[in-house]
Amino acid sequence: MYEMIALIVKKPLWSTLVVTFSLLLAVICLTPSSPFSQSPVRSTSPFEESDIWSVRRIVDWRPCKWWLQGHLTALPVESNGYIRVDCYGGLNQMRRDLCDGVGIARLLNATLVLPKFEVAAYWNESSGFADVFDVDYFIQRMNRFVKIAKELPAEIASKEPFRVDCSKRKGLFDYIESVLPSLLEHRYISMTPAMSQRRDRYPLYAKAAFCQACYSALRLTRALERKSSELLLAIPKPFLSLHLRFEPDMVAYSQCKYDGLSHVSMEAIEAARGDRKPWTGEVARVWRNRGKCPLTPKETAFVLQALSIPTNTNIYLAAGDGLTELEGLTSVYTNVVTKSTLLSGEDFTSMHGNTKAALDYYVSINSDSYVATYFGNMDKMVAAIRAVKGLFKTLLLSRKAFAEFTSQGLKGKELMDALWKAHRDDFVMGRGSALPACFCELRL
Ligand SMILES: *[C@@H]1O[C@H](CO)[C@@H](O)[C@H](O)[C@H]1NC(C)=O
Ligand SMILES: *[C@@H]1O[C@H](CO)[C@@H](O)[C@H](O)[C@H]1NC(C)=O
Repeated sequence: MYEMIALIVKKPLWSTLVVTFSLLLAVICLTPSSPFSQSPVRSTSPFEESDIWSVRRIVDWRPCKWWLQGHLTALPVESNGYIRVDCYGGLNQMRRDLCDGVGIARLLNATLVLPKFEVAAYWNESSGFADVFDVDYFIQRMNRFVKIAKELPAEIASKEPFRVDCSKRKGLFDYIESVLPSLLEHRYISMTPAMSQRRDRYPLYAKAAFCQACYSALRLTRALERKSSELLLAIPKPFLSLHLRFEPDMVAYSQCKYDGLSHVSMEAIEAARGDRKPWTGEVARVWRNRGKCPLTPKETAFVLQALSIPTNTNIYLAAGDGLTELEGLTSVYTNVVTKSTLLSGEDFTSMHGNTKAALDYYVSINSDSYVATYFGNMDKMVAAIRAVKGLFKTLLLSRKAFAEFTSQGLKGKELMDALWKAHRDDFVMGRGSALPACFCELRL
């Protein structure tokens, strides 16, 4: 992050001038020419005072009743055995797997032992579950939803769990058919939940355990909460938390090609590509129109403007280290703050990836509004927690809409209008924050 800021500062003047000039041009082109150009379907104009958040919503997502009442189904007297959930990857991916694992443990009438949080190599740390989340709170909140053993009973404490490999199971995956036998045989198993599974077959009490674990039982440790609330305090209010995903690895992974990026960004992206070459020609066009290409910071700034989010809005940038092309955003939205500017240098450099991710998460579930440019694990988690907390100023920017409209040749004000409508409809219907299994639609 430091390097990146240095890069921004070091960027040659001419490129700053080019950006400034094109923005000036954009502003000139985008200024509404006539007050009669309003389209009838629009409820408010992006060029008037009101922003996207003031549009009236029709649908909200609220925790389903069966979830909130899931603890009413009595837990089985006999446990079928012990399950340890092994979680890998980034913080929010581990959390997703943990929730899944809790649902599975309940489905199998098993007792959960504390999960193993193992961080991928790129975090360069080993941070266990108890280092990130408040264990006692978790156990207390899961009371009557699932059995949890904080300490392993003596008869199994000495042995390693039998590892059940779920990763190779594809398609419709049923845990009762394929994992219960191993559990009954070995009494203590470990597993990493598979992505595809028959959650539709779950009895409601198992789904409820999943929902409760994911969205109601995880609280950061005291130390992390203290650090996070320090950060939250330092952010000028009110503010929008923007999860902008345009790190080189993200761009490389997307296999999209971008014109007009700086030399430095291109190099970082190329370095991250490996054998994932970008698509070209017709494939690239179709890929892009399917919404597969991350929005650049500049495109993000454009969409935010289309949503009438004022350019003097305080924005907290929730983003990974190494975010490139940031000036595409900061040249338009001038009040952008980041972790690295708000925390002391020492704090920041000594901080682990998971800790940084936890800070972004905490700030984002406490911000006035939240906008994501990509619907990843963190965004799903944040959107859901915000819904639990009754914070509905949450929006996912549509890469698909942006790609489609630009490929149709829309520009300037026309493009802004089209983007406004697409996002307004999403916001009104509560789409985009597309909440998974645990939430029920409430018509307002
Ligand atoms: C779990 O226990 C419930 C009763 O509490 C029972 O209906 C269900 O069949 C059991 N499932 C398994 C997989 O043992
Ligand atoms: C990982 O962390 C150790 C100590 O915490 C440090 O010495 C090492 O340089 C780090 N490695 C990378 C690749 O950052």
